[in-house]
Amino acid sequence: MPSEVVTMDKIVSLAKRRGFIFPASEIYGGIANTYDYGHYGVLLKQNVVNQWWKAMIQDRDDIVALDSAIIQHPRTWEASGHLAGFTDPLVQCLGKCKRRFRADHLREGAEARGEPTDHLVCPVCGGELSEPRAFNLMFETTIGPVQEAGSAVYLRPETAQGIFLDFKQVLQFARRKPPFGIAQVGKSFRNEITPGNFIFRTLEFEQMEMEYFVPPGEADQWYEHWMRERFDWYVRLGIDPEHLRLRAHGAEELSHYSSATSDIEYLYPIGWSELEGIANRGDYDLTQHAQFSGEKLDWVDPQTGDRYIPHVIEPAAGVGRSLLAFLCDAYDEDEIGGERRTVLRLHPALAPVKVAVLPLLRKAGHPEKARAVYEDLRRHMKAEYDDGGAIGRRYRRQDEIGTPFAITIDHQTSEDDTVTLRDRDTLEQERVPVEGLAQRLLAKLSA
Ligand code: GAP
Repeated sequence: MPSEVVTMDKIVSLAKRRGFIFPASEIYGGIANTYDYGHYGVLLKQNVVNQWWKAMIQDRDDIVALDSAIIQHPRTWEASGHLAGFTDPLVQCLGKCKRRFRADHLREGAEARGEPTDHLVCPVCGGELSEPRAFNLMFETTIGPVQEAGSAVYLRPETAQGIFLDFKQVLQFARRKPPFGIAQVGKSFRNEITPGNFIFRTLEFEQMEMEYFVPPGEADQWYEHWMRERFDWYVRLGIDPEHLRLRAHGAEELSHYSSATSDIEYLYPIGWSELEGIANRGDYDLTQHAQFSGEKLDWVDPQTGDRYIPHVIEPAAGVGRSLLAFLCDAYDEDEIGGERRTVLRLHPALAPVKVAVLPLLRKAGHPEKARAVYEDLRRHMKAEYDDGGAIGRRYRRQDEIGTPFAITIDHQTSEDDTVTLRDRDTLEQERVPVEGLAQRLLAKLSA
């Protein structure tokens, strides 16, 4: 069962209250499944993405980075199979409400509740449902001022295809041989019709995808490797392993390109749901693009002259879904001095702000000294200065955005040049010298 402390409503409310994430186009009443990220949301998102890049290209040397275009040649999606096969089964209520649903979601819901699935009805008004119709998820647009034959293009529904199109280019400059990977972070777009559960399912979302090209005989071992690596990445960044599980797809669930896929699932407040997919795409994509483009996309071993089309293992994560999992896992409520506190126990590497600098009073030289400490710390890490309101209120504000440390400047500071250093999680306050403060904090942040 999901934790009783954290509910999706609490996460949505905190995210809005503290300006992490809020509905887009709100002055016009909002737009379905679309959200904007405010100041702390942007910082948190950046930290998630930076940690992913770190794991991919700093902590190992067999992966290179790429940033390919969102709009690619339309033949891309013919070759990839998305034009014909990237569809959801859509049903519409024929009763009162006329709402649209994904037939597979309705069936899964009924199964989970132990209800029969042979005659599904509208979950909102109980009306009859239409027959399922295949609905393509790609957003179509046109290049040029008029819609004419051949001008249709698509917003990419996954970043992966740009990697396959550039495989040959990358081989030329990256000086790598299989096994090696190409990693990319960027926006993808899907015309999702079901209500999204906050940022879990949105129309536009960022993906962090890596295509790992391997000799065909090594595909199984690398599939196992990437499942472990990716699972451990979430745990290293603070997610309780009890809230994570790996689930292998059944044959009927596999995407058109995949011979095996496992999802890393997280226990969101809505229940166990996909956080990231790890797929064995075999040689499907390179073979398809070679055939459609006429280019040779195989690897030729310069020593032996052996040639083969590499197989691909793909860990594909969503930035929003990861961020949501980090938020849910970090969310906590406790009591300090009889007062309820909401705290985000985010891993320091993810916390949007690392340290807050707070003058106890707005007089007696406290603000001036606090400013000087802040100016020094901000050169080393994301710091925030706050002198607005009672000190307890200021601590609470920082707790709510997950700031791991707070420095308070008080009357003793002017006597011995020391400050208090408060820990968000233990609530311990130690007296420490101003000298060497940045180094002390950097050591704690990287501990
Ligand atoms: N290239 C493979 C691929 O795109 P996917 O399972 O469809 O696989 C990978 O997507 C990840 O992208 C998902 O695990 C999820 O984290 C994220 N994702 C997919 N669709 C999404 C949506 N509509 N909104 C938010 N995140 C989404």
